[in-house]
Formats: sequence, C-alpha cells, structure tokens
Amino acid sequence: AHLWRGVIREYAARLPMLEGAPVVTLQEGGTPLIPAEKLSERVGAEVFVKYEGLNPTGSFKDRGMTTAMSMAAKHGAKAVICASTGNTSASAAAYATKAGMTCAVLVPEGKIAMGKLSQAIAHGATLLQVEGNFDDCLTVSRKLAEAYPVDLVNSVNPARIEGQKTASFEVVDALGDAPDIHCLPVGNAGNITAYWKGYREYHQGSESPGPATRLPQMWGFQAAGAAPIVLGHPVDEPDTIATAIRIGNPASWKQAEAARDESGGRIESVTDEQILEAHRFLSSQEGIFVEPASAASVAGLFQVHAAGQVPPGARIVCTVTGHGLKDPQWALREADGTEIVPVKIPVDAYSAAVALGFDS
Ligand code: F0G
Repeated sequence: AHLWRGVIREYAARLPMLEGAPVVTLQEGGTPLIPAEKLSERVGAEVFVKYEGLNPTGSFKDRGMTTAMSMAAKHGAKAVICASTGNTSASAAAYATKAGMTCAVLVPEGKIAMGKLSQAIAHGATLLQVEGNFDDCLTVSRKLAEAYPVDLVNSVNPARIEGQKTASFEVVDALGDAPDIHCLPVGNAGNITAYWKGYREYHQGSESPGPATRLPQMWGFQAAGAAPIVLGHPVDEPDTIATAIRIGNPASWKQAEAARDESGGRIESVTDEQILEAHRFLSSQEGIFVEPASAASVAGLFQVHAAGQVPPGARIVCTVTGHGLKDPQWALREADGTEIVPVKIPVDAYSAAVALGFDS
C-alpha cells in the first residue's frame, strides 16, 4: 500500500531547495479533488473542487509550512514568527511544535476566527493581538525578523511558495493534464503565485518538462471590501466577513498580476453576499463545508458565469482553501440574516415524527 508521505517527500525531485533539509511534516497535501456535479450544472462546465480544508491544520497553509519549517530547521533556527489572519498562525504553531521550535504570531485584534485562534494557542504559540490590520501585522513581523534571530514564515518566504506550488502538481496528477481554468481566493496573493509557479513547472514547455501539455487561466477573486489588486491601489481599512482575506496591501501583488496576465486570466472582486451564497451552495448542494474566504473562488466563478463568460464545457478547478469548522458561525444564519435555531422536542417519538413531518 502507498501511504501519502507529505508534499516534500512526494515531490522531492521538484523541490531542489529542500535538498538535505530535515523534513518537518504532518503528512500534508494529497487532498481530494472532488467532482462537483451541482456546481458543474449551474455554470455549464466540468467543475472540480480542490478541498484544502482537509490538510492537517485545516487549510492550504500546511503545504508551505512544511517547507518553510524544514528550511528553518536546515539552518538551525530556534524560533519562527508570522503575521496572520488566522490560518497561517494555526499552521505555523503546529509545525513549530513538530520541529521543536518556538513560534510567535501577530494577528489583527478581534478579526480572526475562533477556531484559528484556539489552534494557535493549543499548539503553544505566543500570540499577540495587534491593534491594527493584517498589513500592519506583516510590517511589524518583517521588522522583527530583520532585527532578531527569528525566521519569518509568511509567504514572502520563498520556501512557502515552493511548498504551496505542489497543489498544482496534485491537480495535474489527478486530471492527467492542467485544467482550462483555475479559480482561487486572493488575499496576500501568495497562493495564486504558488499555483501559477507549479503549473508552469509542470508544463512541457518549461525548463524541466512535466506531465502537463497546457497551462490554465488563473482566475483570482478578492473580497469587494478588500480588493486592492482590482482597484489598483492599497486599501487602508480592508473589510469583509471573509476575515482570512481581509488584506489591503498584498505582499505578492506583482506576482498575482503576473499570474493573471501571463495566463490570460482575471482578478475580480465579489461581495460578502456573493461569498455567503457560494458558501451556502457548497455546503447545501455539494456537501463541502468551507470557511467564507474559501467560497470566494466559487462566488467568482458564479459571477463570471452570470456575465456569460464561462466557456461551455470548460474544465475548471476551484480551490477551497480552509475548512468550514474554522469559522462555523456563518452556517447558522439564513440568507436574510435571521438566526437558525434548532427545533427542540421532548423525549418522545411522536413529537419527533411531527417535527420531522412524518406525521401530522
Ligand atoms: N483562503 C484562506 C482560508 C486563507 O487563510 C487565506 C490567507 C487565503 C485564502 C488567501 O491566500 O494570502 O495566499 O492570497 N490567509 C493568510 C493567513 C493571510 O494569515 O492565514 P493568499
């Protein structure tokens, strides 16, 4: 039997940077690429969902954290630091524990989901709530990493991008070639950068040719209240219910634009309402529970479809980046905002039958 060994061992030949590094892994990657029938029907294409919420800490960050932490271990680091809207901090904390390092995380006060906060604390990170937004947290983290003996494990660390590019490899390995279109949420823009790098490296036209005969269009989607790349300027006070992508000045801005332009793709914005509609569609129609930011990829696909711009029959992959249990409160409201309260019954089968509509 073949047991999945984590992205560094599975893709060692394509991760030269990691050569000779001790492997710090929680066996991340190898996530399902789920055929999405209802989604396909709605947009008239062949849609798959790459379910990154099934990584060890519940988000795609683990792909980049195994590589970043292994590189940190390689040069003898004892401590790591990151800025985070939540998922990076959860992942860094878990992998630092695995590596036997200490971990400090800087998060925007009051703006990270409870699940992520508790993960960072559970794994023993030192957590600072900064009176500012993610962009402020990243500025402070960068300064600390320059001045003190602590490794920065945000996606500005090239090892993060190396690990995250393996998601593209998995998509091509599963489908037998690259899809026509790849949809992603965009926050700090590291992930769209990494996917595009992965697709290029797996393409037969590249320096070390791989199994893909073509390249996908990269379609990135930002939240409307935090859409600097779409607007063409930084957003000072980014705001969205999708707290994971509440970012006003993405570190990999230029690389995201390059991914868009080189692939003939697009980067657009979607409203919180659209994000929540896609979130509900995934959970109620596809059986896939994601956190709101993750649903931006699907919300974006719906938007492009509504504009009549999804090529009929195209093969499309939507990455959903984080698990629904990270930030579960959004499922407990109707589309109009009213709270959903579970029906209460006495210990009685007849009452249950009536409540369930089996009997009147
Ligand atoms: N989706 C989720 C669930 C995320 O946590 C993030 C980023 C993104 C999408 C966007 O990815 O930044 O590479 O464009 N979260 C970071 C964090 C910022 O701190 O956890 P990106």
